[in-house]
Amino acid sequence: MQKQESIAPGYWLLSLHSPQIASAAAPGQFVMLKIDKSFDPLLPRPMSIHSVIKEDNNRIGFTILYKVMGKGTRLLSEKRSGESLVVIGPLGKGFNLNHISSGCEPIVVGGGIGIAPLLFLAHKLLERGWTPSVLLGANSQQELLRLDEFESSGLIPKVSTEDGSKGVKGMVTDLLGSYLEDRKGVHGEVFACGPSPMLEKVASQAKEYGLNSQLSLEQRMACGLGACLGCVVRIRDKEGSQLSFQRVCTEGPVFNGEDIIW
Ligand SMILES: Cc1cc2nc3c(=O)[nH]c(=O)nc-3n(C[C@H](O)[C@H](O)[C@H](O)COP(=O)(O)OP(=O)(O)OC[C@H]3O[C@@H](n4cnc5c(N)ncnc54)[C@H](O)[C@@H]3O)c2cc1C
Ligand code: FES
Repeated sequence: MQKQESIAPGYWLLSLHSPQIASAAAPGQFVMLKIDKSFDPLLPRPMSIHSVIKEDNNRIGFTILYKVMGKGTRLLSEKRSGESLVVIGPLGKGFNLNHISSGCEPIVVGGGIGIAPLLFLAHKLLERGWTPSVLLGANSQQELLRLDEFESSGLIPKVSTEDGSKGVKGMVTDLLGSYLEDRKGVHGEVFACGPSPMLEKVASQAKEYGLNSQLSLEQRMACGLGACLGCVVRIRDKEGSQLSFQRVCTEGPVFNGEDIIW
């Protein structure tokens, strides 16, 4: 482990040295972190790859942005430089950028800690020649994380807070609603991560304005490797009729918004 910094009360940024994981990683993929060698907590915890760390243009490591939720993340926040962690990854299927045409406007939408996989995505979009619109929401200004990092990449995120302490007062889906209404007919694709109710709303907003959406789901996971079936979600097949159960850890975590049965 390289470095761990507290970036807001209850939120941490962990930097890990791993040229192997960093060079293979794509935006939207995650790692499984085994936090403690003991049996408590027994299971590893899934965490998105937040950004890659480069040295002389080579990927040498990656960061994880996380919120302390329970025992695992609390123990993780107590780790210090020099201590080791067992990390498996990169895992899952991330955001798909292959079908996006050059005239498309990517719209990146993050709610709360759902911002975690979106910085890496924004960097990748910029690298490929798109300038995404970025919409970020949180409970309060204090929980609007990493704005500087988006800004230093040349992006100007539109922000909302539920208590009105920064940006528009309300939810990030309110921001998205106004954005889509102002730009009716835009040829775009929505990329989002956040709590389930937010993602369900984003999927219906994108559909209403005729846009495709790619949503990163944060299902609870046990193995992260496709073996336990503990993370399945209901997905429509391509014809939109048949149901299938798909594993968030292996077929996801990113799914097309229209395919998810909420
Ligand atoms: C693919 C994926 C990527 C993720 N990326 C990140 C990330 O980058 N940063 C980050 O902070 N978190 C991320 N998460 C969520 C993170 O894995 C959980 O917050 C973590 O496992 C909680 O572990 P814990 O032991 O601290 O909490 P636990 O003691 O296991 O749980 C504490 C509380 O948190 C709730 N909780 C646990 N897991 C989740 C979850 N997946 N979604 C919503 N609520 C949950 C529980 O219901 C409980 O109320 C991701 C989850 C997935 C599936
Ligand atoms: S977490 Fe075990 S199958 Fe997905």
